[in-house]
Amino acid sequence: MFENKMARDICKLMDKLHQEGFEAYLVGGCIRDLILGKEPEDWDICTSAIIDEIKRCFSEYKVVETGIKHGTLTVILEEDQVEMTTFISLKEDLSRRDFTINSLAYSKETGLIDYFGGLEDIKKGIIRAVGDARKRFFEDPLRILRAIRFSALLGFEIENKTEQQMLECKTLLQNVSIERITSEFNKILCQGEKTKNVLNKYSQIIFEVIPEAKKMDIDDWNKTLNAISVISDDIILNLTLFFHSLPSEKIMERMRYDKKTIKTVKILIENLDYNFVPDRSSIKRLLNKIGVENFRRLLKLNNNVIKKTEELLEEILDNQQCFSLQALAIDGDDLKSIGFKEGKEIGLLLNDLLNKVIDEEIANEKTKLIEEAKKCYHIFL
Ligand code: CTP
Repeated sequence: MFENKMARDICKLMDKLHQEGFEAYLVGGCIRDLILGKEPEDWDICTSAIIDEIKRCFSEYKVVETGIKHGTLTVILEEDQVEMTTFISLKEDLSRRDFTINSLAYSKETGLIDYFGGLEDIKKGIIRAVGDARKRFFEDPLRILRAIRFSALLGFEIENKTEQQMLECKTLLQNVSIERITSEFNKILCQGEKTKNVLNKYSQIIFEVIPEAKKMDIDDWNKTLNAISVISDDIILNLTLFFHSLPSEKIMERMRYDKKTIKTVKILIENLDYNFVPDRSSIKRLLNKIGVENFRRLLKLNNNVIKKTEELLEEILDNQQCFSLQALAIDGDDLKSIGFKEGKEIGLLLNDLLNKVIDEEIANEKTKLIEEAKKCYHIFL
């Protein structure tokens, strides 16, 4: 089923374990990715062989003991690294994994093994805890952030009960090492439009790990997320945007970002409002101040904003959205017909209604606008 997509080396490792009489399955994220048609980032094999037996099978390879107390070895291949874990029973091992989409197993001999409905959830685009969500989050609270990461990365929705437990268990994140949190946060930040969606939806969880962000006012928060939504893969730019109105150095030191990252983000924040002019001397001055790489970053930010603005402009024009009094679905005569008197109040009210239409607070429809105008009787009459 997946043999053609699996690197030859991986097949060889699996075959070797089978030849030696052990059970062996590919498990976790690699199967999820293969089903989604993505190239797996890493390969995990679960086997009935114990550590010494794995070492014996792969004596000609470089083998690193990565988590010996948990029974994990990493076999280093030319292009890949393969984590090998010993299980007592496959089903028991899979039942303690985080999400159904990560709980699938596969071997050539057995085909796909799906005890918890992972395939169906991948097809439907759902992130669902395996079994009791609360238990899974108590076992490892980082999974709360992993759920958000997978939701952003894959564009999947988080199932209701899982989501409810994420919110109920969010304070457990205080017990997780900050390095693990930071690593997930970085991945959450780099998914463009989907980052914006999950940060909005799960802001309370993000505030649990970065409480300072709670103090951003709603306008600032929305602007920040909109800016992040047009950048996807540049972590430095995303950090710059996320922390631009916060004490970036203090928070980033606490989150154990490296010194270079903290410094770069600081420089970029200081120059975030730089007004680009197509003039050689200005360019050279800014290059001198922030360096080539950061110059390109700031430019990319501006370019993306311009590109996004262009897209929105075309959308507004294509859909004939209203942005002027001429296009407003009511005029002065309509207001007069519902009792407003001739004079400058009518102009003020029409402009007020236009602003609400522009801000998409009300639709540009006659009945809606009349209804809204009536709310202003007490001011204007
Ligand atoms: N896992 C888990 N709970 C965690 C971390 C990992 O249950 N807190 C399980 C999942 O089954 C996961 C597998 O271990 O698929 C491998 O973990 P990891 O490599 O961290 O994640 P992947 O799912 O492989 O995703 P990626 O490699 O993209 O990080």
